[in-house]
Order: sequence, then C-alpha cells, then structure tokens
Amino acid sequence: MMLEDSSVLPDVFGSSFEHALRSAIVRHDPMPLVPLLAAATKHLGIIATAATPFYPPFLAARLMSTLDHLTHGRVGINLVTASPHAAAQNYGYDQHFEHDERYAMADEWIDAVRALWDTWDADALVLDEATGVFADHTKVRYADFAGKYYRTRGPLNTVASPQGHPVVCQAGGSPAGRDLGARNADTLIASAAGVDAMREYVDDMHRRMVGFGREETDAKILFLVEPVLADTDDEAEAKQARQLAATRENIDAQLANLSYTSGFDFAQFDLDEPLPADLKGTSNGHQSVIEAFLAKADGKTLREALPAQRDTTGSVRLVGSPETVADQMEEAIAASGADGFLIGLPVTRKNLTEVCDGLAPVLRRRGLVRDGYEHETFRENLLAF
Ligand SMILES: Cc1cc2nc3c(=O)[nH]c(=O)nc-3n(C[C@H](O)[C@H](O)[C@H](O)COP(=O)(O)O)c2cc1C
Repeated sequence: MMLEDSSVLPDVFGSSFEHALRSAIVRHDPMPLVPLLAAATKHLGIIATAATPFYPPFLAARLMSTLDHLTHGRVGINLVTASPHAAAQNYGYDQHFEHDERYAMADEWIDAVRALWDTWDADALVLDEATGVFADHTKVRYADFAGKYYRTRGPLNTVASPQGHPVVCQAGGSPAGRDLGARNADTLIASAAGVDAMREYVDDMHRRMVGFGREETDAKILFLVEPVLADTDDEAEAKQARQLAATRENIDAQLANLSYTSGFDFAQFDLDEPLPADLKGTSNGHQSVIEAFLAKADGKTLREALPAQRDTTGSVRLVGSPETVADQMEEAIAASGADGFLIGLPVTRKNLTEVCDGLAPVLRRRGLVRDGYEHETFRENLLAF
C-alpha cells in the first residue's frame, strides 16, 4: 500500500483554494497512519510519501527506522521532490528549488539517509543481562556525511531496524527523476499512456539501472491502473462509460489537476483556443507529465486536449469482469515487461470488495499473484515475486 502525500492546499487554479476545498483535496500526514495500518494487518508492505526537500535527512532516517520497528520490517518511503512553490513556502522558502536541482538534492539526501541507517551494524545489539551491556559500541559509528546540500553527523540513536534499509519507492518521470529512481529505488511506480509507453519506460529504467551498476531485477516496476470491475463485461463497460462521462464533464477538476502539476493557472486559458506556445519547457512542476500533455495538445484547443479524452484514466484500459480484467492485465504485463500494477482506485468498500474478492482470486488461481509470503520483511517479499 502506497500512501501519497503533498504539503499544500492547492491554490494555483483560479488563484484560489476553492476548488481544492470543494473537492476534498486535503492530505493528513501519512506517517502516523503507518503503524496503525501495520497493527491491523499481517503481511502488507506500507509505503509513506516524504518530500525530500522538507525533511532533514536525520529526521527522516530516524522516523523510518522507528517505523520499521513498529511495523516489524514492513515500511517503505516514497521519495518525492514536491513541485508547488506554495509547498516550499510552507517550509519557509521564497520559491521551490529548480526541477533538476531538487532531484540532485534528493539523490544526495537518500545517500545521507542511508549513511545514517548504516551507522548501526545489524548485530550491534548485545542484550547481555549478566554484564548489563545493551549494545556493542564498536558496532555503531558516526556517519560524518558532508555533501553539497546536506550534512549529518550521526550515529542514529535508534536501534538497527529489521530491514536495515526500509524499502525505497520512487515515481519520477523526467530524465532527472528517472535517474533518481534507477539509482535508488526498490520499487518504481509510474503512469504511462498505453502499453507502448509502458514498454519504453521499463526498457529505459532497466538501461539506467544497469548504468548505475544495478541488476534489472533490483527494482520492481509497477504501473498505475484504475480497473473498472463488474460481474459481467457489459456491466463494466456501462460503468466505465458513466465514469468517463462524469470525468469529462468535470472540466474544472481536469484544469485544477493540470494547474497543480504544472504550476500554470489553467483558469486563465480559453478552452476553445490552443494553449500559448511559450509554455513548453517552462514548468517547474511534474515536468514529464506536463511536457507530455503540451506535446499532445499541439494543434488542438485546450478543450480537445483535456486528459480525460483518453479511454482510461490509468496506464492501460482494464474494464470487464474479473476474468476479463485478469486477461487484460496478463497481456499488458507480457507486452510491457512490467512487474505489476499499482491500483489507484478510491478506497471504498465496494472497490476493495471488487478487487480483493473479485479480481484477486482470479489472479491467484492463475498464479499471477501469490497466495502466501515466504519472508518476514517487506523488501524480501517485494523482491521475491
Ligand atoms: C503513481 C505515482 C504516484 C505519485 N505520488 C506522488 C505523491 O504522493 N506526492 C507527490 O508529491 N508526487 C507524487 N507523484 C509525482 C512524482 O513524484 C513526480 O513528480 C512525477 O511523476 C513527475 O516526475 P518528473 O518531475 O520527474 O517529471 C507520483 C507519481 C506517480 C506516477
């Protein structure tokens, strides 16, 4: 389970947070939810998102170490660099850092966090009741990390955690974002428009991973999908038609989302005119997302270019009965070389039932998802399948 996050009540669209509040775009801090979810589950790996520019490495390393203990080795961290200037302003900066620089910072940030996690050997704990010695001081060391952006002394004052290094997740799409993921991630989550784009992403990430001296199998690549499930294919098709119509009708939601990811106020553009040509290459936001949108919008009016014109809001169209959707998933994995999917449906009881009691048993019968876990920790289980 991946818990997304951001540090801002979005107010770029129409220079107001009206849309965000009308549409419930609020975020509570995901970190305190992690041990609660762990206490209610046995095997689930739980990833919480942290914006690297706003967490001192020591705070993050100590927090993740503590959560790794509280979850008995089932926690991970999703590294994001955050995009809105308003988020940076919440932490006291005038402006957010430039897109590629914040990835360079994140790359150093995770090195600093790892250096802190490595300040304790796994066997430093002695717990000798006879001598009263708790831990062997020769197995704990300073980090003395001094980089261009971050410095930290260490050691951590938390005991070495079950995983040592909690799972690292990443979702960057631009060249700098992809490099951060290729170098550091245990799992990559991505959104791509269709199987060809998925294949391109998988091949590119494998190339980059090998370039950083890693194996292609060192990170699991999962694509964001929003399956539309029902008892029969006809019912699922009708359900998707209703959902897509509602999404397409809600033009403000699409414009607000584009405003959030780009940092440009899309309320200022005429829906029936092409977008200004000089937007290209100037976004400091989710760069890959917005550049792909602008490239596709070429020669179209804004209304024609709106993202909901696609036949799905996920990476690949998954619509039908559980059997049909299982077929579609199997085909998409075979064609793209991906490792799996990240299901991005709203967490309602109905969606959970359709996925967990409808789709999952079909996938399990086909051996496409497992029916048990070999290992104790999240990282081991993640990499084992
Ligand atoms: C599946 C998925 C989940 C993401 N979750 C978050 C999130 O929780 N918080 C966030 O700030 N960004 C999130 N992002 C955005 C990415 O961190 C990144 O900004 C985006 O993919 C664009 O990357 P780029 O700037 O390298 O082009 C997510 C992206 C994807 C594809």
